[in-house]
Amino acid sequence: MPELSVVVFAAENDQRAVLQVLVDGTSVARTVSSSGALPVSVSDPVLRKLHAHTPHVILVDIPAGADEAALRAIELLHQEFPDAAVFAVGSMSQSHLIVSAMRAGAREYIERPTTTTDLLEAFVRLTATRRKPGREGSRGKMFAIVNAKGGSGATTVAVNLALALQSSHGNTALVDMAPLGHCALHLNLKPAFTISDAVTNLHRLDSSLLDSFMARHGGGLQVLGGAAAPTAIEPSASDFARLFDMIAGQFRYIVVDASSRLDAVTRLVSNLSERILLVAHADVASLWSAGRVAHYLGESSSRDRFALVLNRYRKISGFNEAETEAAIGAPVLWRIPNQYFAVSAAIDRGVPLMQQGNTEIARSIAGLAHALTIDDLDVKRSAWSLFKTV
Ligand SMILES: Nc1ncnc2c1ncn2[C@@H]1O[C@H](COP(=O)(O)OP(=O)(O)OP(=O)(O)O)[C@@H](O)[C@H]1O
Ligand SMILES: [Mg+2]
Repeated sequence: MPELSVVVFAAENDQRAVLQVLVDGTSVARTVSSSGALPVSVSDPVLRKLHAHTPHVILVDIPAGADEAALRAIELLHQEFPDAAVFAVGSMSQSHLIVSAMRAGAREYIERPTTTTDLLEAFVRLTATRRKPGREGSRGKMFAIVNAKGGSGATTVAVNLALALQSSHGNTALVDMAPLGHCALHLNLKPAFTISDAVTNLHRLDSSLLDSFMARHGGGLQVLGGAAAPTAIEPSASDFARLFDMIAGQFRYIVVDASSRLDAVTRLVSNLSERILLVAHADVASLWSAGRVAHYLGESSSRDRFALVLNRYRKISGFNEAETEAAIGAPVLWRIPNQYFAVSAAIDRGVPLMQQGNTEIARSIAGLAHALTIDDLDVKRSAWSLFKTV
């Protein structure tokens, strides 16, 4: 493994010295510069000096009670050094801090106080993903699929969207977070492990253990299975934040099926997601629920990432889309046709729609995948095939 050059930012002198010793102690990385002054603007001389070092990793310490300056620094450093990976070091007990650091652009969130082992594992993960083409320094994009109302089709959308993304771009994960997971059934998989195993093993979770917890579908899609029985005790939202932090470091696209789960974990996932797709039917009860769900999930994050996916869509006289969008505060992004026979047969047989060739509904979901990724730089460059099947 080639040596990584690391720059350390920590306002507290002791912590800066400790981090430097720990980095050098990994023997796969070397501190090339350390600073107690965090950059505050793009014209900050600290940034100019840093360019000379071309760091692979920029470590930013988040001290208790002084997180704002550190988060701002992470955002700036991420912008100014797109080829470097920013690692945040902070408390694991506050999930909002983990989420904010990741949204600011941190690639890893490492527990404070940290150890040489924590750092070493993060460096190894970074080197492993750098080897995957197109993944240099960047985090995967998450899409959360949430039901307006039970049975609206969240799992059908999540499973087929994930397959469409895998088919077009590869390196996609499907994470089943539903109270009772159905993704594996839709895909005819029998995962040996579930998301609960991943969360309960967080303390030793690294990329290879995560890999072993995931089931593989024929076309390469990797699936972290959902709960096979309702569970009374749930891990905390910060546990899930750590899990998704790791998953986003490994995959290019991550589709999360939340189905009808509405709790702190779904809120957290919504906060981390690029888009939150509310799956609804075009009827009054479903759309009313969509508004309530968007309100609940949007309380702690901006609403502009929400979009409606109208499933089982057919033209209904008197249904005013513009009024619906205004009432819910989210645009209608996609309409999926109502094809009960095809969809239920696909679920019953465990052969998803995307695997059944060029049908109207498969084209619709491939179109949704296209709409969600069209602004991604690397996607723009490569040719898109709407009809590619798994
Ligand atoms: N586009 C569609 N056209 C016709 N039927 C559909 C469509 N999408 C889903 N369905 C039907 O709706 C039912 C529920 O689908 P699915 O399991 O995907 O929903 P869900 O919202 O995930 O449910 P849950 O609330 O249990 O998590 C299935 O039986 C499926 O056949
Ligand atoms: Mg479901």
